[in-house]
Amino acid sequence: MMALGKRLRRTLRRRPKKSDGRMKGKLFTKQDVKDLPPMVEVTGLHRTYEGAEPVRVLKGTSLKVERGEMVALMGPSGSGKTTLLNVIGLLDTPDSGTVKFAGVDVTELKRRKVPLFRQNEVGMIFQQKNLIQSLTAFENVYLPFRYARGARRKQGREQAREALRLVGMLERENHLPNQLSGGEQQRVAVARALVLSPAVVLADEPTGELDRKTSDQVVDLIRELNKQTGQTFIIVTHDRSVAERADRILTMDDGKVVPEKGGSGRKRPTAKRPATKPGNQPRKRKA
Ligand SMILES: Nc1ncnc2c1ncn2[C@@H]1O[C@H](COP(=O)(O)OP(=O)(O)OP(=O)(O)O)[C@@H](O)[C@H]1O
Ligand SMILES: [Mg+2]
Repeated sequence: MMALGKRLRRTLRRRPKKSDGRMKGKLFTKQDVKDLPPMVEVTGLHRTYEGAEPVRVLKGTSLKVERGEMVALMGPSGSGKTTLLNVIGLLDTPDSGTVKFAGVDVTELKRRKVPLFRQNEVGMIFQQKNLIQSLTAFENVYLPFRYARGARRKQGREQAREALRLVGMLERENHLPNQLSGGEQQRVAVARALVLSPAVVLADEPTGELDRKTSDQVVDLIRELNKQTGQTFIIVTHDRSVAERADRILTMDDGKVVPEKGGSGRKRPTAKRPATKPGNQPRKRKA
């Protein structure tokens, strides 16, 4: 495998120039998306947890997510959603199958390169916000820069502030997590996931512990960020109203993502549908 790091960086980092340090506009035009490989493409993933009773969790599953797409992943408890997300986020290694980011197989990455790749290109948001309780909101978001010196340190401070501003938490930057509400903590966790502008953001039940209203606010925020930054989001959720904010809903069942059939999930508004085949029911439309 040749110069994987460089190739990845080049393809993943295709972004417009950032003016005045803000993330403005879409990252990719439709044409870009058409010409580039999908941002995330998972093929034939298998994962079995070994032990006295081996548990087969992923059973040859595949999945494709385009650049800038926001995809929801639903499915019964135990169907393998978290496992799949962990494999995509390189927290876990599959027994077989490939995970490609922008056409490059990241399961081939050298072990020592994985942490840096993850830090730079994969943002993660969890159900428990996983903020460090002894650090302020700002310090939690600034974490990847904690050893930075000089110019990079200054840049880190700016990026952390920018991420907090994006999620509307800049005024609370000096508060500790236990001085923030659940929804506010989750917004800080979102800022932390976004601080290095990763190509892909993976969220595992990010609203699982929030009440309806707060959950709606957090998912609205994620949707808005997705539109603003053009980053690719995969969100695992049990909450249909959260899922419905996504461009597409995928369902996982018994270790596999169920193939999409016409009419299931929501399509991007721009997607043209082929003419209905004879025998197919005409699609119901909302008024
Ligand atoms: N470390 C592990 N060792 C053994 N089995 C595991 C391990 N982690 C998960 N499992 C099993 O793998 C299966 C899938 O787990 P996973 O967490 O991926 O499900 P999920 O779809 O995220 O479920 P939920 O909706 O409840 O979060 C479950 O049966 C679980 O018990
Ligand atoms: Mg789970």
